Amino acid sequence: MIKKGIILAGGKGTRMSPLTKSVNKQLLPIYDKPLIFYPLSILMLAKIKDILIIVNKGQLEQYKKLLPNGKNLGIKITYMEQDSPRGLPDAFILGEKFIGKEKVAMILGDNFFYGQNLTSILIKSTNIKNGAKILLHKVRNPELFGVAKVDKRKKITHLKEKPKKFLSNDAITGLYFFDNKVINYSKKLKPSKRGEIEIIDLLMRYKKNNQLTANYIGRGGAWLDTGSIEDYYKTIAFVQAVENRQGLKIACIEEIALLNKWIKKKHITNSIKFYGNCDYSKYLKKLISK
Ligand code: DAU
Repeated sequence: MIKKGIILAGGKGTRMSPLTKSVNKQLLPIYDKPLIFYPLSILMLAKIKDILIIVNKGQLEQYKKLLPNGKNLGIKITYMEQDSPRGLPDAFILGEKFIGKEKVAMILGDNFFYGQNLTSILIKSTNIKNGAKILLHKVRNPELFGVAKVDKRKKITHLKEKPKKFLSNDAITGLYFFDNKVINYSKKLKPSKRGEIEIIDLLMRYKKNNQLTANYIGRGGAWLDTGSIEDYYKTIAFVQAVENRQGLKIACIEEIALLNKWIKKKHITNSIKFYGNCDYSKYLKKLISK
């Protein structure tokens, strides 16, 4: 089982400027809660309790105000700053000490996942013995993402970052599961033309050794990348529609902690005090009055 997880929540944020000029993207709202709650909830659903959040240099204090140390969620949150966006695999170089000798999951701070069988897919994925696992999802515009081609025997035959020529509709989502070799492999990566070390090169390294496998988030699941303004607002509309229809919240981190039996009702009472009088607190109050 993978017990450690990294949320990569830095980046230039240029695609969403001026919104992100003074506030980190992951702190912007997705409907009724900050974006960072969504990737955090995914790691928690995967039963990962030891979490490193990597943020941009100078933005640590903003995050700590919102998510101090995880105690109230029954988890451990630590932070690191990234000086500049050197590329996604930089998470494993920066996080070397945090990872230690263990395996690790990594989720991009701007990725949104939702769906019926999601928790079981997550748990299955944290079960890797060695190698790496990616999650794929069918999209209409694969040229905007990392893409994998999978053959009939479920073997990954090709990988390409933002392919100009059509390869397949299977986008590689921003949630990855790695064994401990990820640290050394990442250190050996050479920057690409755009000056970053690339996740696709890291995945290729695993593929070369026949150690890369994939799970699908099927049609019943949703994966959205909130990277552009359009997608950002689509995600908000999605959350608003689902939550208002069901009366249940997506990515309520206290609810997940309670369901996982990591916390008691008194911790939720603390959270209510912390958030103050708001709809989110009202939802928490309902949870503990049952
Ligand atoms: O969302 C899934 C896609 O994410 C994958 O399909 C691609 O294979 C993968 O390369 C990545 O593509 P993006 O174009 O979305 O990557 P971007 O550079 O926008 O970075 C993703 C997030 O990670 C973004 O919120 C910023 C953050 N980031 C990025 C870099 C390069 C960091 O925190 N540090 C970094 O060094």
